[in-house]
Amino acid sequence: MSCLKSGELIRMAEAAGKAIPGFNIPYLPMVGPVVKAIKDCNSFGLLMVARLEWEKFESKSPEAVAEEYRKFALSKHTRLHLDHIPVIDEDNLRVDYMDIIRRAIDSGYESVMIDGSRLPLDENIRCTKEVVELAHASGIPVEAELGAVMGHEAGPLPPYEELFASGRGFTDPEEARRFVAESGADWLSVAIGNVHGAISAAAKGKQKISARLDIAHLGKIYRAAGVPLVLHGGTGIRKEYVLESIRHGIAKINVATAIRQPYEANLPRGVAVAQDAVYKAMLKIINDELELKDSAEIFKYQRED
Ligand code: 13P
Repeated sequence: MSCLKSGELIRMAEAAGKAIPGFNIPYLPMVGPVVKAIKDCNSFGLLMVARLEWEKFESKSPEAVAEEYRKFALSKHTRLHLDHIPVIDEDNLRVDYMDIIRRAIDSGYESVMIDGSRLPLDENIRCTKEVVELAHASGIPVEAELGAVMGHEAGPLPPYEELFASGRGFTDPEEARRFVAESGADWLSVAIGNVHGAISAAAKGKQKISARLDIAHLGKIYRAAGVPLVLHGGTGIRKEYVLESIRHGIAKINVATAIRQPYEANLPRGVAVAQDAVYKAMLKIINDELELKDSAEIFKYQRED
């Protein structure tokens, strides 16, 4: 029996009206409990690392995460994804994104994200297309971002309700149509009221705001873009909005803060205690918040070779 590729899995989830969650790994010992929880729920998930997690946390490098992942990987339940490789990072510095993406593909990542969302549209299209050409040559799908999913930058967010009401930074449906057609991106990360958990030293332990999503706007983006959509900032979004977003095109949901904070809070009591806290948080997310227990069943009819 052959392994389904990440691109096929996301398409199957989309067709089944489900989502595949991606879980971020800012600390290498989180890999074990994240995989174990996915398996124990008979669910399916991506393990992911973003550049900022090896730059600002302790996951060391994309290669180190891939090596740790290989110790636990379960083809029925997990795949490895490269999250946010920004063209311009959260500190406004330019990044050699092509070098990182090449290294990730060489070390076994099965899908990658390029984040040109801090660039003007034309430049975002150009950088994304460059990554799509490289990744597709190895059969690897590419996630890209359009719109402003805020939260990673230092400093306070503008007041949330004001942000939501104004729709400032939301992905524009017509731009999304053009972006996907011209860049060739496989999955699109969108801004519809979602925000990332803060990562600055001062704010990273604080509870995230409870975000809402503009579902009508999401529907417009989905119809225009015509590709599976990705919801970043998955921690703390009100459950009814998350479930509704899955019915309107979201096929991948990124979760970081909800598993990082229990790890960090329990680490003073030892790595094993912190790992157990991650495991318990994972069960709650998969079973209660995302309602994805047994979602591995969607993929059980894997192709026979
Ligand atoms: P949260 O930290 O809000 O879960 O966001 C995670 C994310 O979007 C990573 O790309």
